[in-house]
Amino acid sequence: MSARKRIAILASGGGSNAAALMQAMREPDFPAEAVLVFSNVPGAGVLQKAKDFGVPTWAFSHKAFAGREAFDQAVLKVLADAQPDYLCLAGYLRILSPAFVRAYAGRILNIHPALLPKFGGPGMHGHHVHEAVLAAGEKESGATVHFVDEGVDSGAIVLQRRVPVLAGDTAGALAARVLGAEHQVYVEALKKLCLQA
Ligand code: GRF
Repeated sequence: MSARKRIAILASGGGSNAAALMQAMREPDFPAEAVLVFSNVPGAGVLQKAKDFGVPTWAFSHKAFAGREAFDQAVLKVLADAQPDYLCLAGYLRILSPAFVRAYAGRILNIHPALLPKFGGPGMHGHHVHEAVLAAGEKESGATVHFVDEGVDSGAIVLQRRVPVLAGDTAGALAARVLGAEHQVYVEALKKLCLQA
């Protein structure tokens, strides 16, 4: 097998998607290894998960910077040291600046908790997504792994996994069902990408 691809994970929250990815990358025959977890939220749960997996971490708040570009330049410096082949956004609640996207053009993945291109775009994150799916009367939802481009949730789709919307579903119940699909589809998508590269 060719050298394993080097993956940096960027996350802002609890990190269950990051944990699913790090768990998969513990397998020696998985075609990628986690080389860094970065968070814009010092103290985010994802950082402890990374430490538990023995993955190096970096964290600093975007609030300490003059603006999006300045923060992203600082993040790019941290990433340059880790030399990742791909970035996996896993609940990274920051819109990337165009300069950041260009620095890793075609090499940034994101997980979205709906079947894009529906229910994506500005404001479509967290419970807002599931509430919109329920309000629309959808019979199914799911998770999408896509490349990140300079739009919001608009990059090419890599892989999707569908889940049913059940009668009486609350947004919370649907979110939990979709989250389980996220964990599975993100690992499958990363493996597919690394084997194709
Ligand atoms: C997930 O719901 C995902 O769809 C979205 O952010 C959330 C991340 O959750 N991108 P976790 O931090 O990975 O548990």
